[in-house]
Amino acid sequence: MGGAVPRFVDVDDLSRSELFAVLDRAAALKRAAGRGEPHRYLAGDTLAMVFEKPSTRTRVSFETGMTQLGGHAVFLGPDDIGLDGREPIQDIARSLSQYVDGIMARVFDHADAVELADYATVPVVNGLTDDAHPCQTLADLLTIRESCGFDASVAWVGDGNNVAQSFVVGAALAGLDLTVATPAGYGIDDDVLERAAELGAAPETTDDPAAAVAGADVVYTDVWVSMGQEDEREEKLGVFEAGGFQLDDDLLDDQRVMHCLPAHRGEEITDAVIESDRALVWTQAGNRLHAQKALLTRLLGD
Ligand code: CP
Ligand code: NVA
Repeated sequence: MGGAVPRFVDVDDLSRSELFAVLDRAAALKRAAGRGEPHRYLAGDTLAMVFEKPSTRTRVSFETGMTQLGGHAVFLGPDDIGLDGREPIQDIARSLSQYVDGIMARVFDHADAVELADYATVPVVNGLTDDAHPCQTLADLLTIRESCGFDASVAWVGDGNNVAQSFVVGAALAGLDLTVATPAGYGIDDDVLERAAELGAAPETTDDPAAAVAGADVVYTDVWVSMGQEDEREEKLGVFEAGGFQLDDDLLDDQRVMHCLPAHRGEEITDAVIESDRALVWTQAGNRLHAQKALLTRLLGD
């Protein structure tokens, strides 16, 4: 982690060895929780949680995680903190840093998360921006490692969105074999592909979902219309449907299936597929808690 104050704005704020250390710690914390062993490594610490967008998993897993670690979390929704104009982000960052030991932020503009981290004097964790969702990637990698091992081949099928982009970076760091299938015009940003290449390997890219899933052990998808893209809904649904990007029984064979949730059943995935034994989605959702607790102990506790 670079700089005096560690941050987790995207997955490559961790080195490869730091990533594996977080995954190992997550697995250990998961076992400790399963055995009912106390693990109050952040007793007395407070995490501010800034949300510009809604959330189920991120909000509850961070808040519960802090409680289980002996600390406390403060929820700050859009009506509490006006990142869009009540005061400059740098003033929010410097003020919050006087009260709390870490800040988790879910914001629209990725540059806002970077600015928050630049001015905060406590660690800042990205809880999702329009461009990245690195906490999701930690849980995804934990899930793949414990369910299939890192020898698995993974296919991303769908939008080249925030979840996909962080997964591309995480897969490169972890050494996972990854193919990304998106419709033309909805691919991974060039700078993300370049970062992945520098970290080890950029994924193969295609606009053919069937080609991507052939030979894959795990197929991962997410919604076609992310939060903030509601105006593009009709256009995107048309493009993704026409391209055959839905995870259904015709596209899939016996691959394991991942989805970060929330899912739009009948759009990017069928009800039958997400309810099938192939689905790893509930393990993914559960692993958000363990992965983020490991991250928090690393950022706030060391
Ligand atoms: N996967 C995920 O981040 O879910 P929420 O939007 O509910 O937090
Ligand atoms: N791509 C989705 C992920 C939600 C967790 C979104 O940004 O809405």
